[in-house]
Amino acid sequence: MKVDSTDLKSIAYTEAGKFEETRFEKIHNVIFDSSNEASIIVAEEIAALINEKEALNQPCVLGLATGSSPIKVYEELVRMHKEEGLSFSNVVTFNLDEYYPMGKDNIQSYFYFMHEHLFNHVDILPENINIPNGMVSADDLYQYCIDYELKIKSYGGLDFQLLGIGRTGHIGFNEPGSHLNSGTRSITLDHVTRADAAPAFLGIDNVPRKAITMGIGTVKSAKRIVLLGWGLNKAKILKDTIEGEETSSVPATYLQDHDNTTFVIDSEASSELTRVKTPWLVASCHWTDILKLKAVVWLSELLSKPILKLTDKDYNDNGMSGLLTEEGTAYDLNIKMFNKLQHTITGWPGGKPNADDSHRPERANPAKKRVIIFSPHPDDDVISMGGTFDRLVEQGHEVHIAYQTSGNIAVSDEEALKFAEIICKLNPDNSEAKAIIDFLQSKTDKDIDSKALRQLKGLIRQSESLAATRYLGVKDENVHFLNLPFYETGTIKKGNLTSDDIDIVTSLIEAVKPHQIYAAGDLADPHGTHKVCLDALFEAIDVLKPKAFMNDCWVWLYRGAWHEWESYEIEMAVPMSPDQVLKKRHAIFYHQSQKDGVMFQGDDSREFWVRAEDRNRLTAKKYNDLGLADYAAIEAFKRYHF
Ligand code: F6R
Repeated sequence: MKVDSTDLKSIAYTEAGKFEETRFEKIHNVIFDSSNEASIIVAEEIAALINEKEALNQPCVLGLATGSSPIKVYEELVRMHKEEGLSFSNVVTFNLDEYYPMGKDNIQSYFYFMHEHLFNHVDILPENINIPNGMVSADDLYQYCIDYELKIKSYGGLDFQLLGIGRTGHIGFNEPGSHLNSGTRSITLDHVTRADAAPAFLGIDNVPRKAITMGIGTVKSAKRIVLLGWGLNKAKILKDTIEGEETSSVPATYLQDHDNTTFVIDSEASSELTRVKTPWLVASCHWTDILKLKAVVWLSELLSKPILKLTDKDYNDNGMSGLLTEEGTAYDLNIKMFNKLQHTITGWPGGKPNADDSHRPERANPAKKRVIIFSPHPDDDVISMGGTFDRLVEQGHEVHIAYQTSGNIAVSDEEALKFAEIICKLNPDNSEAKAIIDFLQSKTDKDIDSKALRQLKGLIRQSESLAATRYLGVKDENVHFLNLPFYETGTIKKGNLTSDDIDIVTSLIEAVKPHQIYAAGDLADPHGTHKVCLDALFEAIDVLKPKAFMNDCWVWLYRGAWHEWESYEIEMAVPMSPDQVLKKRHAIFYHQSQKDGVMFQGDDSREFWVRAEDRNRLTAKKYNDLGLADYAAIEAFKRYHF
C-alpha cells in the first residue's frame, strides 16, 4: 500500500498479519513517500497513546530506540510537547540498549542521545527514564539485566515499542543468532553493526564490541510494535525480514508472529519488496512508461538476454502478458525500450550544439551553458561525476563548482598536525598554528575540535579541491566554498537546515543564473549530509522558481559514492573512454586527506576512486548487457523536475 498525505491516518494502521497486500509479505507494512511524513504519523500514534493512558490515570510504558531512524519522531514529540501541551508526566520509558562499556557523559552513549533528542525537552520525570547502564561492573551485569527485565514487567510490560532495524536484521542489539525467547542481556556486536556505527565513533576501532540489549522476548512482549526503516540501505534487510522465513539469522523476522506490529518505511526502503520492485509478479499493473522500462530491463537482466532478443514467451512466462497486450508484440516493445535507453546516452552532457535534440537528454541551446555543480563534500564532484565535469569544461561551458560543506570533520588529526607544523616551521610566531598543535597534543576522545582546528581542516580540503578543479580547467573564481552553517557543529551530528543555509545556496544560483545544475541526489538517507544539502538546494529552487531564468534551468541529479541509479531510472548516461577514466582518477587523487584510509570508511574497504571506477564500469556493463554499446565506463544522471 502506498499512501499519500491525504489519507495517511485512515489507512496507516491495520491489524497486523491479516491484510497483507501480497502473498509474499509476512509483516504488515506501510510505505510513505517521505520519512518526515511517516515519522509525524508515528509520533501522533504515540501521543494518542500517552493521552489515552493519561485519561485512564495509568502510566504509559514506552520502549524506545536510538539511532538515526527515530530522530524525527522524537523531534515531533518535542514539538507536540512545546506547542500542543503534550505531557510526558505519566510516561515511563525503557530504552532498548546501550553500548558496553559506555559512560553516560560520552557523546556516543545512548543515554546522551536520548537526553539530547527527547528527555531534556519534555516534562518526563527523571525517575521514569530507564536506559541500560553501560558502566555497570562485569560482576553485576547478569543480575542487572534480570532486574531491567523485571522492572519492565513490574509496570505490566511495554505498551508500545519503537524499533529501528540494523543491516544485520538486528532489533535492539539482538544480532543474528539471538534466541526467540531472549531477555535483556549483554551481547557481542556484529561487525556490520560496528562498521555502521564507525563514522559516529570516528573509526571502527573506537566502536565498543559489546552492548546491553533488551531481548527478542522482551520486545515481543510489547502490546504494540512499530519498526521504522528509512533509505536504500535498509531495503535489502527489510525485504528479507518482511518476505523471508522466520530465522535467527535475521532476528527481526521474529516479529512475523507478533500480532500487532507495523513496519513504517519510506519508498526507498521499500524498493526491494516484491510488490514494489516487480509489481507485475503480484497483480495486474497500470503500465506507466517508467514501469514498462523497469519491467523490460528487469526481464533482460533476469534472463541474461539483451533487450532485442526478448521473445513473446519470455514476457508471458514472467507475468508480463498484460504489457504485451498493450504494446503489441515483443518485437515492438523491445525496439521501443531499446531506443529509449539508447537516447539516454550522450557524450554531450551540456547539449550538442547544432544537433537535432529531440531525442537527446539535453537541449542544444544555448550552445554554451552556465553550469553549477553542487558537491555536498569537497570531493563528491569528481568522485561522482568527474568525467562529466571534465566534458562540460572541455566543451566550453561556464562551469562553476559549489562545495556545500567544509568537510572538515573528515580530515584526520594527523593530517592537520602536519600542516600546523609546517606553518610553525615557516613562521615560529604563528600563534594560531601553535594553539592548534597544543590542542591536538592534549585532545581526548571526548573533545570536539577547536574552531581553529576545524578551520585548518576545512582549509586543507579547500586547497585539495582547488588542485582538482584547476586540473580540470576551472578558474578559481568559479569555485565556491559555501561552508553551509548546518554542518559546522564539529561533530557527526549536524545542526538543522536554516534559512542561512538556504540563502547562501539561493544567492549563488541567482548570481550565476545557471542553465544546468548538477547535485547529489541521495534521496535515501534521511540524516546524512548529502540529503540535507539536497534539501537546501530544493528549498532554494522553490524560492527562485518564479524567476524567469529558472525556466531555462534544468537540474540533473547524480548519486553519491554509495549507490547508483537503477538502469531504468537513468535519463542521461555519459560514457567515458579509458583515458577519461584515468583523468577522473587523477582528479580524485588530489583529495589526499581522503586517500589511503579515510576516516569514514564504513564496511566498504575500497578507496573512493576505486569505488567510483567500479561503479562507472558496472553501469557501462549493465548498458552493454541490455544490448547497448560497450563503453569503458558510464556516469549516470536523473532529471529533477520542479
Ligand atoms: C538502537 C537500536 C538499533 C537501531 C538499528 C538501526 O537503539 O537498538 O537496533 O535501531 O541499529 O539504527 P539506525 O536507525 O541508526 O539505522
